[in-house]
Amino acid sequence: MSAPIEVREEDLASEDHDVSTQDELVRSSDPEAASGESGRSTRSLKSEVAEAILEHGRYYCDEFYLMPCDEAEQTRLSITYQTYLFLLGKQITLGQVRNPERILDVGTGTGDWAIAAAERFPNAEIIGTDITTTLHPQAAPPNVSFELDDAQDEWTYNEPFDFIHLRELRGAFSDWEAVYAQVAKHLKAGGVVEVADHGMLNLTNEPENSYLSIFSGALLSASEKAKTPLTFDHMKKEMFQKAGLSITKNKSFDLPIGPWSDDPRKKTAGKIALVAALEGLEAYSLRLLTRYQGWTEEEVRDTCEKVQAEMVAPDAKPFVKIQFIVARKMAF
Ligand SMILES: C[S@@+](CC[C@H](N)C(=O)[O-])C[C@H]1O[C@@H](n2cnc3c(N)ncnc32)[C@H](O)[C@@H]1O
Repeated sequence: MSAPIEVREEDLASEDHDVSTQDELVRSSDPEAASGESGRSTRSLKSEVAEAILEHGRYYCDEFYLMPCDEAEQTRLSITYQTYLFLLGKQITLGQVRNPERILDVGTGTGDWAIAAAERFPNAEIIGTDITTTLHPQAAPPNVSFELDDAQDEWTYNEPFDFIHLRELRGAFSDWEAVYAQVAKHLKAGGVVEVADHGMLNLTNEPENSYLSIFSGALLSASEKAKTPLTFDHMKKEMFQKAGLSITKNKSFDLPIGPWSDDPRKKTAGKIALVAALEGLEAYSLRLLTRYQGWTEEEVRDTCEKVQAEMVAPDAKPFVKIQFIVARKMAF
């Protein structure tokens, strides 16, 4: 049985790292200059938006990425964003840099984080990239722009970033090493990257032969076959070291799913997270299990319902691990 609700932190930041408070990050310079076009990618939001693919009643943006890109997914992502906010005590990030001028949000999804970053740092230019525009918001502050861009392709920015943010991208890339190499290449010396993700669902009191264990086993196996494993392998220290990125913070939370924690902040986060987690079962599994495990659409939906019942059972106390890594580009 797993121990619920604990925060583990290996905080490697020291006085030597120029770690500042969030408030120190807001600098005063010309916002128009900050929102200028000069440093954007040579790719831009263009008309080459692929048509969404309808598969088993969900829309996907391409043939590869495992998650849907429809309204239900948009809602799930916005709820997940709120969960992170509660978890971080209303902060948008753990990573701290001084006076950011340029921030990149890779795989921005709904753009909720990019918009919050734009509001938090009004003098910075924020770019959110994604392989689909369907999840993007209708409106955004003037210092944020969205670009259609596959992070696994060569990045074409001609100005480096102070901060690069990658959240909830587990399962998005088959070659994280290549992505981190690009992160390092496009960070300023001393610039910071933050990667945050959640792990597989756990039940504190899991029934024997649970549907969750069948579901999770199949999902992991399918994601391995798809070459986009739903693991924390991309958070390993060596991955960052290899790219020349030095880890300054390594923090993980056990986030309760549902309002069962005694800690008021986690109780609220858990309430919100439950909605996203119930919805997330299908979002994570439908394409992977039908395509790589040979399950039918009905089998997937039926198993999701059974796992949902296990999650809301009295005393089940579900939780997920949320992992953050903050790393800094070494100055050579
Ligand atoms: C689970 S969502 C997370 C979105 C956002 N980061 C958040 O925290 O809400 C993953 C996002 O990554 C995008 N994505 C998947 N593969 C990508 C790629 N190769 N390059 C850029 N974005 C990608 C998806 O379209 C989706 O919007």
